[in-house]
Formats: sequence, structure tokens, C-alpha cells
Amino acid sequence: MSLREIVIYPDPILRKKSEHVGKIDKGIKELIEDMAETMYASRGIGLAAIQIGVLKRVIVVNVVEGLNILINPEILENEGEAQMEEGCLCLPEVMVEVKRSEKVKVKGLNEKGEEVVINAEGLLARALQHEVDHLNGILVIDKVSRIKRELMTSKLRKEAKERAGEKKSKV
Ligand code: CO
Repeated sequence: MSLREIVIYPDPILRKKSEHVGKIDKGIKELIEDMAETMYASRGIGLAAIQIGVLKRVIVVNVVEGLNILINPEILENEGEAQMEEGCLCLPEVMVEVKRSEKVKVKGLNEKGEEVVINAEGLLARALQHEVDHLNGILVIDKVSRIKRELMTSKLRKEAKERAGEKKSKV
């Protein structure tokens, strides 16, 4: 197992669509272990493979009753609506109000290749929808008004530039 670096916005990879996983081989199992380790270390409640730079449809979520691992997750049913403030490990310091379904039914495969169906509500439902969005290149900042998004993204780009500058001066 190894800790992976989390990709930070505006890295263009975050906008890519992740690929369907065919065979669940050793590489996918190692990826899942690294994702779980990275999520725990960053105190996140969920992580998609794309967030560590891997374009595969794999997510891990840790909200209640331990770790949920889903390969090729699909949202089958949505119910209700709920609004809550949300953050993302790829968007440090950003918190936005996001409207999502209150309940979802999600289907996927676990690390053994067995089909798993999760009927989720509350925070678990929210985390699952957030991670599935990542697999389609969608971020929480896409869920706010255009003006608000422009303000946030310009701030994030400026911060990224400053970080790059710091790295250069610390040769
Ligand atoms: Co996120």
C-alpha cells in the first residue's frame, strides 16, 4: 500500500471521463488499497480514482459501517432532494451548497467482482453522488451559479500559481 498524491484543481485531468473497469486484476486491487489509505490520511469521506490521477471507474466511500468499495458504480434510482454544504479534496478551502438527491440506489462491483447494491440516504447518498460525479469529470463548483463559480475558480487558479511559484523558489 502506498499513499498517493491528490490531484488539485485546476489540473485538467479532473475534467476527464474515467474508463470502465474490465478485469479486476492485481492492479485494480492495489489501486483500491492506495485509494483507501489516501482517503483516510486526508480525512476524506470518499475518493474517486481520478482524484489520485487514475482514470478508472473506481470509488471508495467511508461514511457509515466501514468502507464501501464500488467498481463501475451506477446510480439506478434517485429520490427526494437535499441541500448541504460540501467540500472536495481536490478543491482545498472551497465549501459550496450543493443540491442533490436525498436517497439513491447505487449498483457496482466490489473488489471481488461481486455485484453490490447500496440503498443510501443522507451523507452516504451525498458522498456516492459526489464520487460518481468525479468519474464523469464533474466537480462541486459546477453546481453553483456561473458568477459564483467564476469568482471561485479565479481564486483557485491564483492560489495554484502561487504554489507553483513557491516550488520554484524552493529548489
Ligand atoms: Co471530490
